[in-house]
Order: sequence, then structure tokens, then C-alpha cells
Amino acid sequence: MDKIRIIGGNPLNGEIIISGAKNAALPLMIASLLSEENLILENIPSLADVRQLKLILQNHGCEIEELASKDNNSGMKISFNNRNINNICAPYELVAKMRASFWVIGPLLARMGEARVSLPGGCAIGTRPVDFFLDGLRQLGAQIEIRDGYVLAKAPKGGLIGNRVRFPKISVGATHTIMMAAVLANGTTIIENAAKEPEVADLANCLVKMGAKISGINTHILTIEGVDKLSGTTHKTLPDRIESGTYLMAAAMSGGEILLKNTNSKYLETPINILRQNGVQISEEKDTIRIKANGAGLRPIDIETEEFPGFPTDLQAQYMALMTRSAGIAKIKETIFENRFMHVAELARFGANIKVKGQVATVYGVPILHGAQVMATDLRASVSLVIAALAARGETIISRIYHLDRGFERLEEKLTNCGAQVERIK
Ligand code: UD1
Repeated sequence: MDKIRIIGGNPLNGEIIISGAKNAALPLMIASLLSEENLILENIPSLADVRQLKLILQNHGCEIEELASKDNNSGMKISFNNRNINNICAPYELVAKMRASFWVIGPLLARMGEARVSLPGGCAIGTRPVDFFLDGLRQLGAQIEIRDGYVLAKAPKGGLIGNRVRFPKISVGATHTIMMAAVLANGTTIIENAAKEPEVADLANCLVKMGAKISGINTHILTIEGVDKLSGTTHKTLPDRIESGTYLMAAAMSGGEILLKNTNSKYLETPINILRQNGVQISEEKDTIRIKANGAGLRPIDIETEEFPGFPTDLQAQYMALMTRSAGIAKIKETIFENRFMHVAELARFGANIKVKGQVATVYGVPILHGAQVMATDLRASVSLVIAALAARGETIISRIYHLDRGFERLEEKLTNCGAQVERIK
């Protein structure tokens, strides 16, 4: 298995081109199941999760063609065609690796009237149930049964029926899924307590281009009037706010000056505001963010993860890495997932001093981190180890980096271009 070797201590200086958002690309690709026509997606990042989802879609009969991109910096351009869906089953072997693949249940049910989808896998950051998905689909008239680890879902004879769906708690995946199911249902669906993460809005905007009738985009209430058919379209995936935030924290930690390109600071208002309070300089322009930091004496600021526009849970581990060297004590509260502190034990190997009590981690800043042998545990946690390693003295070896490959495109290259010493050991 590949490992990553990092020699820490270099400041980061240079430019980083931000990729398309993984968490937008995945639901957009899944939305292709809703139409017989071509859905052409631009700015798709080259990531293990994207490759895995291609296999899942192909298993349903999707024809996938990679088209020539305008330039090297705008990700992949891929055409998805689902005129012949010939299999409504998403098997365990394909779904177990990535939770988002469960979301195919929405469009399959809406277009084919039935779906058989394995219960999902993905990052081990909590129990991550699918009750909101199943209750939501039931509200739209589906009959749901769970047998042998699979969800069997059947729509009524004339198709799904629009209804009011209220989630007990905000869920990104359940919002994507019920929205995709509702666009082809009979009548109107109102999703209350919907997620309003930018990736949800990106999917909704793409569906509207395909002919869906959705209002309330970017709010917690989505109103969807079902239509008979969706057409094809071309859609550009929005920039990855988590990748952007990760590199901002890497620069804040190591010091230096980096310019992020092809990004958008409006998706990162809360983390940017916190970083400014930590004492780094950040300036934003149309699609760039510039950060300047001296890599020392960061002011400790407490955070609490929240749904968008709050501090994203997907940046919590990276922020914790940053706070390990602050000039004081910072409290980090995780409110979205119940078990998202696995990086604490790994950060401790660098000499970090962190105490966890329930949902709160208290990070006592130390002056120096030392390189160590560490293990990636989940997608975002793994990149927190990269951030710590970049600022630590000496050598770090990170194993199990397949987690990193799921979500960070060309990480070593992007960091090396900014002066970091990072290499992959095959
Ligand atoms: C998505 C993101 C993930 C991010 C998370 C929260 C993708 C591919 N993944 O994950 O990177 O960390 O949003 O912003 O976009 N829940 C239930 N029952 C359900 C569904 C969810 O209890 O049926 C709970 C979860 O356990 C969790 C909370 O709701 O505590 C939020 O999870 P959710 O927003 O659904 O996360 P994902 O969509 O899986």
C-alpha cells in the first residue's frame, strides 16, 4: 500500500489550482440517472471516489465518455448517458466503499419505479444511519423493505407522489436523494429542514437546467414540482471549498504566502473569518484567495462545527492540526458526527496535546511538533496529518493514504509546487 513521506519545516509559497468539489461531483454524476439524454459535467476532479462512482453507474448501464477539456486546469469533462438503465441493483461490493453511492436509490426509484441498493459504507466517523432517506422515500409513496443488507424500494404503480418531507436533522445526503426522487414525482414535494450546503444548491441548479422545477434553492425549504421527464445539459461543478480551506490551513500552519485559484471565498466565510482571528492575513478576489502567514504564534480561537454557512465538519480535523501549535488553548466542538475525533490519537504522535471529552476536544498549543509514523483514518482526518507533518520537525510517514486519494486531487504535486517536501512511496 502506498505511503506518503513528508519532511516538515518548509513554508508554503506559490499558487494552487483548486479542483472541482468532490461532494458536488458525486451527486451531479448520480443525477445523470434521471434523464435519457447526455449530462455533460465539467470540472470533475480525478479522485478515487469519482472512479468508484463511475463503476457504480456503469453497473446500472450508464455510458460514460471522457471528453477533451478546455484546459488542464478545469478538471475532467465527462459525458454520462443513461438511456438504457438495465440494472436497478447497486451491489454491496460497489456501495460499501463509499456512502454517497447509496444516493442512487433516489433517481433509480423515480425513473425506474424500483431500486435494490446495498446499505452504505464510507468513512468510519459515526454510525451514519439512512433513516431520513427511507422515511423521506416512504413519504413519497415508496414501499421500503430491508433484506439481507439491501434496501428494496418500490414506487406506487403510477410513480412516486409528491408530499411534505421534513427531516428531523439537516442531512446533505438525504436532501440530495429526496430532491432527486421528487423531481420526477407526481405533484409537489416540499422538503423542510433541507440542507443548504453549496453542493446541494449546485445539484439543484443543474437539475433546473435539466428541466426540473425547484424553488427555494440556497434555503432550508425546497419546493419541487414534479415533471414527466428531464433533458440533458452541460454543467460545471463548483470549486471544492474543503480543499480550499485545507490549503488555507496548511499555509496558516507552515507560514508563507499562497494564492488559491479557481475557488470562491463566498463558500468559506466562516473558516476565513476564524483564520483571520487566528492572526493570518487573507484577501479575496473574484475567484482567488490569497493567504499570508508567518507560521508561528497563532491565536487560539474556539470553534463549533455547524451546517453551512457554519464551520464545516469537513474542516474540523484540519483546524485541530492548526491549533496544536497555537499560542494557547482552543476548544473544538463537533456537532455533526458523533465519532469524528479519530485524528486526535494520530496528532498526539507528533507531540500534540489534546484532551477529548464527549463532543469537545481541548487543544493545548505546543511550540513544536515532531515528525512521526502515523496512519490515515478517514478522508478529512488524513489531511490533518499532512498539515501537521508539513509544520513538524523531521520526517513523517503517513500510511493508509487511500483515504487521501478519495478526496484530494494531486495533493503531493500541489504541495510540492509550493515548496513542501512531499513524496509518495509506492
Ligand atoms: C455529507 C458529505 C460529508 C460531510 C457531511 C456533513 C458528501 C459526499 N459527504 O455527508 O463530507 O461531512 O455531509 O456536512 O457530500 N443522519 C442520520 N440519518 C440519516 C442521514 C443522516 O441520522 O438518514 C445524520 C448523520 O449521522 C450525521 C448528520 O445526520 O450525524 C449529518 O449527516 P449528512 O449531512 O447526511 O452527511 P452525508 O450526506 O453522509
